[in-house]
Amino acid sequence: MNFEKKIVCIGAGYVGGPTMTIIADKCPHYKVTIVDINEEKIAAWKTDDLPIYEPGLLEVVKRTRDKNLFFSTDIPKEINEADIIFVSVNTPTKTFGEGKGKASDLQYLEKTAHAIVAASDSSKIIVEKSTLPVRTAEALEKILNSNPKGIHFDVVSNPEFLAEGTAIKDLENPDRVLIGSRETESGLKARQTLVDIYKNWVSDERIIRSNVWSSELSKLVANAFLAQRISSINSISALCEKTGADVKEISRAIGADSRIGNKFLNASIGFGGSCFKKDILNLVYISESLGLTEVAEYWENVIKMNDYQEKRFVKRMLETMFNTLANKKIVLFGFAFKADTGDTRETPAYYIAKMLLEEHANVFITDPKALKNAKIDLAEYGDKIQYVEDPYEAAKDADAIGIMTEWKLYKELDYKKIYDSMRKPAHLYDGRSILNQTEIRAIGFDAHTIGKQ
Ligand code: NAD
Ligand code: UGA
Repeated sequence: MNFEKKIVCIGAGYVGGPTMTIIADKCPHYKVTIVDINEEKIAAWKTDDLPIYEPGLLEVVKRTRDKNLFFSTDIPKEINEADIIFVSVNTPTKTFGEGKGKASDLQYLEKTAHAIVAASDSSKIIVEKSTLPVRTAEALEKILNSNPKGIHFDVVSNPEFLAEGTAIKDLENPDRVLIGSRETESGLKARQTLVDIYKNWVSDERIIRSNVWSSELSKLVANAFLAQRISSINSISALCEKTGADVKEISRAIGADSRIGNKFLNASIGFGGSCFKKDILNLVYISESLGLTEVAEYWENVIKMNDYQEKRFVKRMLETMFNTLANKKIVLFGFAFKADTGDTRETPAYYIAKMLLEEHANVFITDPKALKNAKIDLAEYGDKIQYVEDPYEAAKDADAIGIMTEWKLYKELDYKKIYDSMRKPAHLYDGRSILNQTEIRAIGFDAHTIGKQ
């Protein structure tokens, strides 16, 4: 079949995989190929055992794969044939050198830029899909356009706003699509090429056009604002636990004000995921580099509050279990950083499990999708941690349960059966406020939840 355009995406991860699958589904006239250096991952994308769990993803992959959606490790060939290249590689926090612990590690992005220059024989549009520090496009343009072949590359910023667990829904019906470009003739033309892709399923008023720096910075700011709301409500949860106010009632009361809105007001054990912390740290680093100390300190507090919330959860366990957790069996219900994903990057459950081990607790972990990743994350602790698939089995003879992830499954368990199988007193710490406290107490549990005395 003759395709109108050839799109290639470099990076077959949580963003590259789902975004390109949806583009392929909505644009049958474009050929979409996803490439990655990780051969195992590409092989998995070609099977029905996809490398990531995301509700609804497999169905869309199945109806597009080998029609106009392809997966490959032949990166140079695919780059050379592409008209548009989305770059969706990882941009983790730097773990070494200048900016260690805060700045973004851009080595994967830079490698990609050099690979594009080496393999290209014709001009292309390069799309920043990864989350990047503001002004990265300038550096990319320098690498790309210093090629000796006289080829011109336009760099466009098109950050991704999907959330894991709802990626397909978010991509099919986005609140907005943001496309930033240089405001030159060729920059505007490249911007329009991107608009033409999204126009296949997104209405024009939801496609926001901006300059390239605003687009890059908007992505960091969006994540910072979302995380800030969670830290704000979590700070109030601590106040509620001391005063008799109930944080759920507060969320409802303040969220009813349309200026505040009711989303992202669930108090929790803290936010996790690969991006909130990383992107705020990046914002802090950029602000510090520009001499904006007060701005940097302001945003750093969002992370400090998150760390405090994780520590507070373990402290409460300790205080209500007679100040010792040594040799007590504590079961964590859930290890994924949120429901409906197997992703465990920066999950609060990881830090909580580590703190419990420091208290010499016997830690058991159960999760419907994330046990494989949990075992990798906690490999250094060997058999100090037990992994059990069945939550009923995991809870047998336990002293306490800590709910880490708001899986629907955990709302529907038979807690009477679980209580009967546990040691007494049986403690239950609901870190996600998913259970009815009155009912749980009536069963006999010593029950605690975030933001309630
Ligand atoms: P990921 O680690 O799941 O995927 C990145 C992929 O890039 C990996 O498979 C890796 O092998 C591949 N890669 C790295 N260097 C490469 C190279 N030189 N050539 C080919 N492939 C290479 O990461 P992710 O979660 O998909 O995130 C990617 C970017 O998107 C990050 O900047 C992140 O901040 C941003 N983002 C993530 C989410 C999310 O929900 N995970 C949402 C919005 C934005
Ligand atoms: C987040 C953003 O929501 C996306 O828009 C963004 O694209 C993405 O980061 C990214 O850049 O990676 P994600 O991390 O996948 O998406 O999931 P969220 O739903 O935002 O949840 C993040 C964390 O906050 C989870 O641990 C979740 O449990 C926690 N959370 C969320 C709360 O504790 N309370 C809330 O009210 C909402």
